[in-house]
Amino acid sequence: MVGIIVTQGDIFHLDSQFIAIGIFKDDIDSFTLVQFNNEAENLKKDVFSKGEFKGNFGDACLLHINNHKAVTKIFLVGLGNKSEFTRESARLLAGKVVQKVKELGSQEFSLALVKQLGNGFMSSLVEGLKLADYSFNKYKTDKIKNEAEVQNAYIIASEDNEGLEKIARQASIISDAVNFARDLGNLPPNDCSPSDLARFAAEAGNLPSVNVSVIEYDELKSRELNGIIAVGGGSNHLPKLIIMEYFGTKDKKIRCLLVGKAVTFDTGGISLKPSEKMDEMKFDKCGGCNVIAIIKAISQLRVPINVVGIIPTVENMPSGSSYRPGDIIKMYNGKTVEVGNTDAEGRIILADALSYGVKTYSPAAIIDMATLTGASIIALGSNVAALLGNDPRLVDKLIHAANQSGEKLWQLPIFEEHEEQLKSSIADIKNIGGRSAGAITAAVFLSNFVDKTPWAHLDIAGTAWFQEGSSEKSYIPKGATGFGIRTIIGLLMEMSTLQT
Ligand code: BES
Ligand code: MN
Ligand code: ZN
Repeated sequence: MVGIIVTQGDIFHLDSQFIAIGIFKDDIDSFTLVQFNNEAENLKKDVFSKGEFKGNFGDACLLHINNHKAVTKIFLVGLGNKSEFTRESARLLAGKVVQKVKELGSQEFSLALVKQLGNGFMSSLVEGLKLADYSFNKYKTDKIKNEAEVQNAYIIASEDNEGLEKIARQASIISDAVNFARDLGNLPPNDCSPSDLARFAAEAGNLPSVNVSVIEYDELKSRELNGIIAVGGGSNHLPKLIIMEYFGTKDKKIRCLLVGKAVTFDTGGISLKPSEKMDEMKFDKCGGCNVIAIIKAISQLRVPINVVGIIPTVENMPSGSSYRPGDIIKMYNGKTVEVGNTDAEGRIILADALSYGVKTYSPAAIIDMATLTGASIIALGSNVAALLGNDPRLVDKLIHAANQSGEKLWQLPIFEEHEEQLKSSIADIKNIGGRSAGAITAAVFLSNFVDKTPWAHLDIAGTAWFQEGSSEKSYIPKGATGFGIRTIIGLLMEMSTLQT
């Protein structure tokens, strides 16, 4: 979608061929299309009287009209009861409208979904429109399909409101960032090696107030980022540490460090995974892709906050140079890790990235995002991400931000008993903690590398891409989802308005 345009005024004087009109169940009896023309009103009456449209949430009905100067299709959308309408309702319905528009091949359309647009609904509508419009067709050679893409969406607001336009612009930037992360996440592993990803990050970070640098293999070695070196050892593609600094304010203080796991392909290494669905492990880079997209968006939004994104990127492969079960790694922060399983690789590269970030930037807070454990999917399913951390205030802020974004997070605890599961008899800790509480012990592992810095961890293994158990939503396509991006940008925007 090229443009989203906020317009004011009357839905009855429109130039679009396609118009979507939302109707609350509460208003169904007084709803009329007479001002449009008699033809439209009669068609509506017919549908309503036959009970085919009751205004229930998700009800939809397409009217074809011939006698209007511009409009040929009126898409009536049921909004349900006013009291039950949420931001998520707006996202879902806007997404549904886009699906219909695409199905019919219209180039542009107008949306008169919620008349009294509050700021929350405006941003949700824009998100629904843009996120549902996404498709990954880079590898489809039949380009004819692409020509039918939707160009413009006009959102009709009931009153002249400059504030709404700004909200729409911001939501548009944020949604573009989500779609950008989806594009990266969906890349096949043969076109997204660690060095490819570093190049994409440098391109994405070519923006005001952003510096992108990459710590290459030799420097990883000399600086003793040995966790990243170990996990990357089995692949012909060398591991890297991508660093994206964003300075949105003049002071030096880093308010937030974002760390994202980017395993461009996770075979499990010597502890090889079964081949069924192994292809999905191309999505094991999604945490890192999200961080790249977040830095891009906050620069475009000029959020007044300093944030550093660190993305450790490796390919986890079995070979003669792979690290092995039984190896002991001396990590960047000096702690020793006994490798119990080479498939628990994400926590090892994240650990070095976390302690490198803490040492280099002394951030006020840390958030990491990672497709870290199958256990988080067993615990919470494929629509909810696990949230863990060492700081209740940071965790609460994330929960609040997630309530706004509609991205579902659920906190899991960390108790002393969980910490015991990682004890090793010959090193400081092990990288696996047994079968039970797998999502928690993975987080406990990470907690060893953040010192006392307030830290929160999002395990997005279930939510990073559309998978078995993911529920169908109009604005979540197949493939990478960009889950977590909207929540974190919302949180950073919120943080930027508060005093240190
Ligand atoms: N990338 C996987 C986690 C994963 C699995 C994400 C399935 C999404 C879907 C991670 O590197 C991994 O392999 N974790 C192991 C850890 C285990 C060996 C302790 C897991 O979850 O099985
Ligand atoms: Mn793994
Ligand atoms: Zn992994």
